[in-house]
Amino acid sequence: MTDKKRDDVTGTETTGHSWDGIEELNTPLPRWWLWTFYATIVWGVIYTILYPAWPLVSSASAGVLGWSTRGEVAEQIAEAEAANADLRAQLIETELAAVSDDPALQNYAVQHGAAVFRTNCSQCHGQGAAGAKGYPNLLDDAWLWGGQIEEIAYTVRHGIRNEDDPDARYSQMPAYGEIFSDEEIALIVAHVQTLDDGADPMAGEAGELWANNCAACHGEDGKGNHDLGAPNLTDAIWLYGSSEEDLTYTIVNARFGVMPAWGAFLTEDEVRAVSAYVHQLGGGEDAPAAE
Ligand code: HEC
Ligand code: HEC
Repeated sequence: MTDKKRDDVTGTETTGHSWDGIEELNTPLPRWWLWTFYATIVWGVIYTILYPAWPLVSSASAGVLGWSTRGEVAEQIAEAEAANADLRAQLIETELAAVSDDPALQNYAVQHGAAVFRTNCSQCHGQGAAGAKGYPNLLDDAWLWGGQIEEIAYTVRHGIRNEDDPDARYSQMPAYGEIFSDEEIALIVAHVQTLDDGADPMAGEAGELWANNCAACHGEDGKGNHDLGAPNLTDAIWLYGSSEEDLTYTIVNARFGVMPAWGAFLTEDEVRAVSAYVHQLGGGEDAPAAE
């Protein structure tokens, strides 16, 4: 390759390629470009040594710095948890009824509780906690088992009529299909339908059936009993519906709503946070004033 061809006009070497007599000049790359190019190669090699890079059979080379995206996320989560550690400890120590007295603590509990609710409770009680047939609305101030924060926390911790927690809230309405005649069922269904219009449960044709069978749990006034989870039947809020069909089904078969116990699945701060969240949704009741 000694006798390199040169272009007559510019004096530059040619590559030897020629098209219709037009020859290709062999202009060298600019030096700055070349060095930049070599620098990126060196940088690339160093990078693959420091950081995860080369695909291996089941993972990739780890890199001598030990950095990973997973590790970075774990670090950020740990940082966030460390930042909230004080509030979490405070939430566990504070008496539930006093949580709302401290705005920072209440804010933490409600935010944290909303996340716990979305993950664990919304499949039954709905995303916005408005409930569905058989799953109580937690936004209103009608409570089966009580709406004070301590009562809510008990419900969450132990659940209702489940077989996993010996302290679960429990009661059982009898299935009156086995007790009443068809006429009595029809009579009491019609009677219950008048209660949310303000009728006296103990009066009228069905008053005696009410007094002897229903008053023990739902009360002589029909307003229910939190100790037994017996709903108020006078407030026009229905868990299972107020049509003749729904009420007949409820009274003939009874319903026996079941809620799981969360004490074993959630941490103490999660139980407390979700209770604070539910309590402030709109229907939470204040604790009775201390004597
Ligand atoms: C598998 C469905 C299910 C899940 C999940 C569930 N619940 Fe319930 N919950 C129920 C049912 C059913 C009832 C009503 C039981 C009854 O008839 O007494 C209830 C009742 C309640 C009550 C009592 C309401 C009252 O009026 O006294 C509260 C409070 C409550 N749930 C909160 C929660 C929270 C908080 C979570 C999440 C940690 C949760 N629930 C998860 C089914 C569920
Ligand atoms: C041992 C207590 C008990 C007795 C007695 C009882 N109930 Fe109930 N009742 C309950 C409980 C607890 C519920 C909540 C539903 C459940 O089982 O999940 C309920 C629910 C109902 C509901 C559904 C309310 C709704 O919001 O959908 C109706 C209606 C009702 N009872 C009517 C009656 C009538 C009428 C009688 C008398 C013939 C009666 N109950 C006797 C405990 C009782």
